[in-house]
Amino acid sequence: MTEEKLRALLDSMSLEEKVGQMVQVTGAFLEEDAVITGPAADAGLELSDCRLAGSILGIAGADRLKRIQERYMEEHPHHIPLLMMADVIHGYRTVFPIPLALGASFQPELVEKAMGMAAEEAASAGLHVTFSPMTDLVRDPRWGRVLESFGESPWLDSRMAEAYVRGYQGADGDLSRPGRMSACDKHFVGYGAPVAGREYNHAELSEHTVREFHLPPKIAAIKAGTACVMPAFQSLNGEPCTASEKIVRKLLRDELGFEGVTISDWSAVGELVAQGAAADTREAAKLAIEAGIDIDMMSVCYARELKGLVESGEVEERLVDEAVWRILTLKNRLGLFEDPFHGSGTEAEKKTVLCQEHRDFARKMVAESVILLKNEDSVLPLSREKKTAFIGPYVDSTDTCGSWAIFQNREDTVTLRRGVAEGGYGENALFCHGCDVLENTRVLGFGVEEVFGQREDRDELVKQALKAAEEADAVVMALGEHTLQSGEAASRGDITLPAQQMELLRQVSRVNSNVITVVYSGRPLDLREVSACSKAVLAVFLPGTMGGAGIADVLFGAASPGGRVSMSFPWSAAQIPVYHNDYSTGRPYDPAGAEQKFVSRYLDMPNSPLYPFGYGLTYGSFRYSSVTLSAETMKAGEVLTAAVTVTNEGTAAAKETVQLYLHDEKATTVRPRRELKGVKCLYLQPGESGEAVFRITEEMLKIWDRDMNFLAEPGTFTVYIGSDSRTENGAGFRYEG
Ligand code: GLC
Repeated sequence: MTEEKLRALLDSMSLEEKVGQMVQVTGAFLEEDAVITGPAADAGLELSDCRLAGSILGIAGADRLKRIQERYMEEHPHHIPLLMMADVIHGYRTVFPIPLALGASFQPELVEKAMGMAAEEAASAGLHVTFSPMTDLVRDPRWGRVLESFGESPWLDSRMAEAYVRGYQGADGDLSRPGRMSACDKHFVGYGAPVAGREYNHAELSEHTVREFHLPPKIAAIKAGTACVMPAFQSLNGEPCTASEKIVRKLLRDELGFEGVTISDWSAVGELVAQGAAADTREAAKLAIEAGIDIDMMSVCYARELKGLVESGEVEERLVDEAVWRILTLKNRLGLFEDPFHGSGTEAEKKTVLCQEHRDFARKMVAESVILLKNEDSVLPLSREKKTAFIGPYVDSTDTCGSWAIFQNREDTVTLRRGVAEGGYGENALFCHGCDVLENTRVLGFGVEEVFGQREDRDELVKQALKAAEEADAVVMALGEHTLQSGEAASRGDITLPAQQMELLRQVSRVNSNVITVVYSGRPLDLREVSACSKAVLAVFLPGTMGGAGIADVLFGAASPGGRVSMSFPWSAAQIPVYHNDYSTGRPYDPAGAEQKFVSRYLDMPNSPLYPFGYGLTYGSFRYSSVTLSAETMKAGEVLTAAVTVTNEGTAAAKETVQLYLHDEKATTVRPRRELKGVKCLYLQPGESGEAVFRITEEMLKIWDRDMNFLAEPGTFTVYIGSDSRTENGAGFRYEG
């Protein structure tokens, strides 16, 4: 539709119709069994509130959405099509590894391809908008939603944000093309830093920290063209984001230039009352529209209060018109006025959903995202000729896609046992359950509750496991936290593995010294004792539909583990927050130095995490040359290059993730000791060398100074290039400005 016609449509709409466009309800009001991803599915809404709703969420399926769209448009006074939205966070039916794992691949180009596949599947099933990417920078693994993040580096998070948006929307951003869907960058801003890691808790962040760490991935998503942004639930420095003109109108729209649609989080507008920011739903509606929230997801505020606020003159109708214009413009960009079904249909579904190409790529992404944290005596890769016992609750689990895989069918998931068998690795393999994931507890999820008692055959299971361990040359323990112990509303204070799993590991490690532990989790866990009981540790996070196949490929050497730590694994939860891009302090502690009292340290534990950012082993063995710079000084506008030669001195081909870090030695605001600013992946055969060359630009040197100016300050910098954030392989240069 032309802009002129769209404007005419807006002008012809009644106030009631316009307000309707700003209301989003769960599909449960229009069709049974929508996926409920928030509290109290109705949030007080009634069918009458939804008659003119402009969008629905939580339902997918080409036929169902076609039926809903047809019925809705028939009844709508101007026959305006619905927007169909849902959380497709890391895949629709072909579920890729969780975003924290995808971030660990350090390969945005692969992640972009994966998200393109997710969009193909979801769009074929009738979805128009996904509430993704989640670009919240994280430092606290007690928070369950680190699962959805890309980790602790603003640079890596930004590259992944761009990859996600381009994957969903296409590099050209033409949303009208079938197989595309609109991205929705979330959550704006600071949701990844809840005080004490407790879900929905407030965030206290200086403007400097927000700009240096939390904003860059949001800016990257906006520059990549995300069509929507979702303000965050929580308050930032005392202001609920959903009611903050400073955060939404002034920062997001005026300063960052975002012109797309803003949609609140689930019932976040209504929850302004509970936050103590609004006296009632009427005031909540007023605050939200004035802050710049276009769509109210799942609360009664806009549906019940906005029309009256405009009619009474308390809210200018102009604000409603601006919001509705952005919503209609999004519908128009999707081509919904010409094709309300956006190219979806059962034929398109049959062609794309779970197709072999997607499954094969998902299997590859598992290998690219798992992190080999330990490999003593090169106990990995395993030999098919030797007897291996696979023991643990994740040997046969299909619950490995994570709590946000809301459209998955568990029977599509490849278990570890199946991956070993179908990969041709299983002729000398034994399989034992060993124990359950959890005992004597229950976990709540989206509309599900899993209750765990204590099995009667508990002791027998352990006996069988120990017998298998005694007979085997090596043991693979498949252990992990429960899927529902991570994700939304799943903060944990204790980030270790469940007790009965640890007990089983201890017993097995006493009867077999070749233990490899595969850890399933939605977050970095405290793996100290797991590591002490194992010769090898492989962090697989929640690997998705093809998890078992990809893990088996890595265990038996068909693929080299490609992941690197994207979020530090703490030595203990007591260290949290612990991350690589922190500051030196005036009394830095040098663990290699002489014993000192007055330094920044703990008396009872190390400062450094168990596994640091950027760290990960492969089946190769890589030697780095020293860093060579194209010059020792850099003037304004100039570009330096920094290069290393990397040689694979190992016996197996592997990918090395070469990382470039910068350190600004002195500036008007203190600078992180290491800032990731570049990654190059080199695939090297045994004995082969490759060169990694990086461009260093003035933009990379810019910082937020104490007056909140973003600029590059003259001074000395060190370029470090190595295999993780601890590298000391560096060279200095002076930026002269
Ligand atoms: C949830 C989440 C948000 C999600 C939305 C819709 O509460 O906070 O990330 O997109 O509701 O499911």
